[in-house]
Amino acid sequence: MQGRTELAPRTRTDVHTLESVALAATHKAALASQAWVGRHDKKAADGVATEAMREVLAGAPGRGTVVIGEGEKDEAPMLYNGESVGNGLGPDFDIAVDPLEGTSFCAKNLPGAMATIAFAESGTLWSPGPGFYMDKIVVPPPAKGVVDLADSPERTLANVAGALGKKVGELRVVIMDKPRHQDLIARVLRAGAAVHTPAEGDVGGSLEVLLPTGDADLLLGVGGTPEGVMTAAAVRGLGGDMLGRLAPQRAEEAEAIRAAGMDLDRIYTCDELVSGDALFAATGVTSGSLLSRPRETDGAVVAESLLISRGQVRRVAHTTFGSCPGTISVPS
Ligand code: FBP
Repeated sequence: MQGRTELAPRTRTDVHTLESVALAATHKAALASQAWVGRHDKKAADGVATEAMREVLAGAPGRGTVVIGEGEKDEAPMLYNGESVGNGLGPDFDIAVDPLEGTSFCAKNLPGAMATIAFAESGTLWSPGPGFYMDKIVVPPPAKGVVDLADSPERTLANVAGALGKKVGELRVVIMDKPRHQDLIARVLRAGAAVHTPAEGDVGGSLEVLLPTGDADLLLGVGGTPEGVMTAAAVRGLGGDMLGRLAPQRAEEAEAIRAAGMDLDRIYTCDELVSGDALFAATGVTSGSLLSRPRETDGAVVAESLLISRGQVRRVAHTTFGSCPGTISVPS
């Protein structure tokens, strides 16, 4: 069954503990990155978020493996693929991380940056090997089972519209504003749907599709593989559907995927991307439609997080006494 069971065979205590660790990891990463909001240095922002998350994960009960991290694609600081985390005192688990999803949003103080993580049972997260990019379709629960990455965008729109009881012209589609999506955006517009084109952030775009309060009907296009696996973890918790296919953006990436024995034509279902129970957590770094940035009030900082776990979405406000780490040393 998808998305409605606990992280079996764990005890309820284990699951609660992993939820707490996930929230602490994204919360600490979001607070750490505040000093770099609007500083136009996305590597520095990613670096402090990653270090903060790494510190929390070091104390996680059990043995965790970063199956898919962020970093190699952009030569950014890593929680790198294969890195071990945790204190060893508990069960094994897999994680997918993007300590700062939307690094440019953070660097430019634009809406939508967030710290993100997914936890899953050991051995259940798909590893994309040397693949950095994948093609994705994400749809809400009523459209589960009606999409196929092999279909044309026009057919996909018609199928999703039918499942949602809407006309194609009423659909709102998220496609990141990338040169590689020019043709796709033009076709979706020609078919009559409205297109929201954020500069980046397909985890946030997918949540807009999946959450009952979200503002979109489907997400299409090519984005990062870590973001894809994290999105699949959210889909397992929320229902809905997702399909993915490796979509290398450079010849060397394609070559490395082939050399690793992976099939570039294979379409992965959500259950293949995350084959066990999973949880997803995110904390706002800059304010956006999903989450607010951490705010200082009366000597405390209140951060806002989303936890998707055990078939539920919870909004969590986390209060820390003191102020945001706001001082950075800027070279003169
Ligand atoms: P980061 O800020 O973590 O690098 O990710 C932003 C993002 O837009 C993701 O949401 C998306 O999946 C990926 O980058 C797309 O990569 P690219 O910007 O290289 O096309």
